[in-house]
Formats: sequence, C-alpha cells, structure tokens
Amino acid sequence: MKIDILTLFPNIFEGAFQESIIKRAQEENNVEINIINFRDYSKDPHNKVDDTPYGGGQGMVLMCQPIFDCIKSIKTKDSIVIMLTPDGIPYKQKMAYELSSKKHLILLCGHYEGFDDRIRSICDMEISIGDYVLTGGEIPAMVLVDSIVRLIPGVIKEESHLDDSFGNNYLLDYPTYTKPRVYEGLEVPEILISGDHKKIEEYRKEASLKKTQERRPDLLDK
Ligand code: ADE
Repeated sequence: MKIDILTLFPNIFEGAFQESIIKRAQEENNVEINIINFRDYSKDPHNKVDDTPYGGGQGMVLMCQPIFDCIKSIKTKDSIVIMLTPDGIPYKQKMAYELSSKKHLILLCGHYEGFDDRIRSICDMEISIGDYVLTGGEIPAMVLVDSIVRLIPGVIKEESHLDDSFGNNYLLDYPTYTKPRVYEGLEVPEILISGDHKKIEEYRKEASLKKTQERRPDLLDK
C-alpha cells in the first residue's frame, strides 16, 4: 500500500512513523508513506495557499488551486482521496479494515478555517476522528495511518487484531495481565493461572461482555 499525506506542516509527522510497528511496516515494504507539502503546488508568486472567505467571516480558507493540482498529479485509478475534517463521517474500526485493503490512499489535511467547499468534489471520502475540533488534519491523518497499517496483512499477526475492541464482534477487549501474580496486593484472576484453556476462553468472553455492558452499552445494539 502507498499512503500520501498532503499537509502544510510536514514537520509534524517527523518521528510519528519512525518507531515500532509503523517503522517496521515501511522497512519491510508493507507500506510506503510519503509526506507532501501542497504549498509546493501553489502557482501564486508568494506560494499562497489560502485566502479570506467570500461573504466575510473569521480566518483564512484553503484555496482550490494548490490542492487540486497536487491531487491531480499523484492520483491514479487505484487512489482513494480522503479529506480529514470535523464534519466528515465518524471514523470506525470497520473503516480501518476496509481501507487496509486499498492500494493507494491520499490523506488531505486542512488547517485554518477549513477548505474551499469545492475541494470536497475531488475527494472520495470525508472522515472525522471524533466530535471535537483540532487545529488541523495532521493528527487525524496519523490516527488513520496507525490504525490502517497495523491491519495490512503481514504487518502484525492476524491473531493479534482479531480480538481487537470494535473488531469483528463489537465487544471491548477482555482484560489482560502479566507477571508477577500479585503486585502491591493486586491479584491476577485465579482462572488465568489454571491452565484450563476452555475455562479461560469462557472467562474472557464473559469479561468482554461485562466490560462492554458497563462502558459501551451502545455497542451491544449492533
Ligand atoms: N480536523 C480538525 N478536527 C478534526 C477531526 N475531529 N477529525 C478530522 N479532521 C479534523
């Protein structure tokens, strides 16, 4: 998979993809990630990328020209263009699964008061990572990359994400423990030390269900 991230602030991404699983996924050629500054596509003599809004109002609005030209120059028939915006569709694990099988994602990060609305016409999807407003789409783009890349076949073992919260069964993950058995008086549930795999599986299913009922009863409606 190739992921191109279009941004005015490439430095924000420094480090974010240079650690752990995402770093290894790039080294092993499971994914290629490119950070592209769409200011480089501006035809304005001063490399301008934004202007004041028609009709008046606060702030600056990202202009069509640099973004249209940038997307047109990198887009192929396999590309999915995704705008990161607080008014997009709410991002869910199911979307991460769907996007993990695509060949080429183009993630468009905004800043300032938003995009000229006509830019939406060259995007295939608009995604929001939650009901809050960030200063730009860069952190949402990192969220998408991280959640999608770990699902690309070969990046982590499939068993490691089959039981994920919000995965196939819409249940939150069961609690896990490691050594020591007792820490500051806090004990690991007896059943996990029993060696009885059938009982452990039942315990985990029940614990998952209980946690979901307590914390996210809305998920059980699905
Ligand atoms: N840009 C600013 N806030 C955002 C959000 N919540 N999701 C996606 N893009 C954004």
